[in-house]
Amino acid sequence: MIQPASVPDWHGPARALMRSRQITCKLIIAQNQHGIIGQANQIPWHIPADLKFFKESTMGGVLLMGRKTWQSIGKALPGRSTIVISSAATNPAGIAPTEKANFQMAASPLGAMQNLEPGQVVWICGGATIYAACFDLATSLYITLVDKPLITQGVRFNAFERTRSADYALQETRQLSPEAEVRIYQRRNWN
Ligand SMILES: NC(=O)c1ccc[n+]([C@@H]2O[C@H](COP(=O)([O-])OP(=O)(O)OC[C@H]3O[C@@H](n4cnc5c(N)ncnc54)[C@H](OP(=O)(O)O)[C@@H]3O)[C@@H](O)[C@H]2O)c1
Repeated sequence: MIQPASVPDWHGPARALMRSRQITCKLIIAQNQHGIIGQANQIPWHIPADLKFFKESTMGGVLLMGRKTWQSIGKALPGRSTIVISSAATNPAGIAPTEKANFQMAASPLGAMQNLEPGQVVWICGGATIYAACFDLATSLYITLVDKPLITQGVRFNAFERTRSADYALQETRQLSPEAEVRIYQRRNWN
């Protein structure tokens, strides 16, 4: 028998906060057919069309990411705010904010949500620990399927496994390059 996924305690307060502040939560990820998303704290492929898609999709929003992803990117991305989740109080990568790119730290995903302002769009953008913690809060999923069948080892988060539920409807499919196709899903019955 399939057991229903348990809902973390903090999701209730997070949803209440998102409703009261009219915050939209979206998730963006690139994975291969085995659900691999990272290797040696990097993304194990370089696909400019997908990087462009990430930039265009997230521009103007808030990026929510784990400390390891933050260190692997190595800079605050322009045109967006970043909230880095870490149990450490200080910025572990020592990355400086710039005029065009700012960031803040949060001690937990809920702490990150509490830092959001009304009307903001927050993008869950990895890595695996943050996708796992926040997946059910997202109303839209932007999943790039990368055709790299030989990459079988590394950090894994298979977002497609979660979209098989009746909770998700495929809204759009777009070929970004010969090896990258993005699929956009909307969550039904978010409340
Ligand atoms: N393909 C893609 O779309 C994509 C996107 C993003 C990342 N990635 C890849 O994913 C890999 C990194 O993923 P990862 O799962 O290893 O690391 P991660 O999620 O980026 O970061 C993990 C860290 O986040 C902090 N954290 C997570 N949950 C927390 C919580 N509840 N409370 C406090 N802190 C928390 C902890 O930092 P502290 O240890 O400082 O406490 C933890 O060590 C890299 O290879 C990266 O390139 C791929």
